[in-house]
Amino acid sequence: MPLTIAQGDIAQFSADALVNAANRSLSEGGGVCGALFKGAGRERMRAACEAVGGCEPGQAVATPAFGLSARYVIHAVGPVYMGGRQGEEETLRNAYRSALRLAREKALSSIAFPLISAGIYGYPKNEALHVATETIRDFLLTDEGEMDVTLVLYDREDLRLNNRLEMEIDFLLRRGMLPEAESVRYRMESSRNRRYLEKLEQRQSADAFTKEAPRVRRKMPYGTPSMPAESAPAPLELDLQLDESFSRTLLKLIDSKGYKDAEVYKRANIDRRLFSKIRNESYRPGKSTVLALALALRLSRTDAESLLARAGYALSSSIEFDVVVSYFINKGVYDVFEINAVLFGRDLPLLGASS
Ligand code: APR
Repeated sequence: MPLTIAQGDIAQFSADALVNAANRSLSEGGGVCGALFKGAGRERMRAACEAVGGCEPGQAVATPAFGLSARYVIHAVGPVYMGGRQGEEETLRNAYRSALRLAREKALSSIAFPLISAGIYGYPKNEALHVATETIRDFLLTDEGEMDVTLVLYDREDLRLNNRLEMEIDFLLRRGMLPEAESVRYRMESSRNRRYLEKLEQRQSADAFTKEAPRVRRKMPYGTPSMPAESAPAPLELDLQLDESFSRTLLKLIDSKGYKDAEVYKRANIDRRLFSKIRNESYRPGKSTVLALALALRLSRTDAESLLARAGYALSSSIEFDVVVSYFINKGVYDVFEINAVLFGRDLPLLGASS
């Protein structure tokens, strides 16, 4: 899978290159740097870094990985966060780009990143995650971007975005989930959130008495979340044959949208080998793969449901994964990488993962 988000200590991961969240003098530090120096062997890594001399913020350099499960450590220097107006974002993007470029120059096929700058350098974690996923996605979407990238995060809980998006998803879950499941998954995080959710609930109850059909989107300051449908998929917006196989339907959709295969599987975060299997008539992809393809094809909610049905799946308002993905489809947000960051924060399977 091209971009995987994983949790753990990066020094325990295996990849052609492990990326260090380094400083400009390439000296040993704490956090990621401390773990990688320790895993590599401190003396040898210190000597290798001294031989290189240093590295400017936004740049990256490589050394051997010594005792780590990798061929190289790529030392990428992120910005120290000074409030966000000192060009930190561009420097952070450049740090990822430089490391990826270096990996490509060395013809590496896998690389694991930490969340550069999001520790001692103070970059807000959610923003750092956004920059990381977006920059890696842009690289993977290029012609040279055939690489397995893992983003290793230390703490999943830190990534629960305590903002409207998460609150809206929580709201949908609370409305849609079975009572016993609800008590396990749903958490009121603060009284402020509670007030916000109550307000949403009141608005939804009010909506139930309006003449508008539930699917009609009303313009509200934050947009009312719409529930995933439990019923059978609505009629297709595209002209698809009901008895067609999944793969034939998929290829037809790709053609009708005027996309190229590579563009679709890359946007879906699916690797080329899996996509070739899916093209094969007898292969039945997993639900997260089908949803990733529906997003990559920028399908409407009804067409996404039809494509899912073609592979034998449906969306349910009592499955958290489905609620999160439906939430984004309903909003017309099709970025698989962005959605995966939210899924990861909620400890859910990622989109585009293997069959
Ligand atoms: N594996 C994965 N992630 C880790 C690990 C680890 N072993 N240790 C820390 N992290 C996470 C942190 O929680 C943070 O989200 O990695 C992110 C980056 O944290 P830092 O390692 O502190 O990196 P950064 O913020 O870029 O600061 C760089 O710290 O260690 C020094 O020499 C380094 O001066 C440089 C500075």
